[in-house]
Amino acid sequence: MKFLLLSALVLVLTLVGVVIARPENVDKIPNGEVYSCDTCHTAGGGSPRNPFGLDFHANGGVWNHALAVEDSDGGGMTNGEELLDPDGDWSQGDADPGDPDDVTNPGDPDDDVQIDVESSTWGRVKVEGP
Ligand code: HEC
Repeated sequence: MKFLLLSALVLVLTLVGVVIARPENVDKIPNGEVYSCDTCHTAGGGSPRNPFGLDFHANGGVWNHALAVEDSDGGGMTNGEELLDPDGDWSQGDADPGDPDDVTNPGDPDDDVQIDVESSTWGRVKVEGP
């Protein structure tokens, strides 16, 4: 009976271990909890990896300068600009840089902020209207 209980306990701990082992990835990138699993997955934890998730994996599962200066989602901002650590200086365990409200998703090109409009264009928009 004791053996059965022990086996059951080991089984439960193993299952829990499998389930919680992956989400620790959230702690391996700056501001990882803002988009949580969707920073790297397309539709929640365990779903296929988005472009940033694929690059994160290809980079050996670490956040560093090389990953920070890439633009994984091709949206016009680097991963580091999106996660507010442009040079990849942040290490696991450090406080999250910047204001979480400014974080965008490095795996989603649609939320990249594009500020490439010439000031002359703005002048025309103001004078001539839309
Ligand atoms: C920083 C990127 C990152 C974040 C954030 C992240 N994951 Fe993942 N996850 C990966 C990568 C890369 C893999 C596949 C390769 C591997 O084994 O590391 C993976 C694999 C998995 C798997 C295994 C199934 C599979 O498709 O291979 C599960 C389950 C999973 N993640 C759950 C989660 C959950 C739940 C969260 C959020 C709490 C999360 N992940 C957040 C990068 C991430």
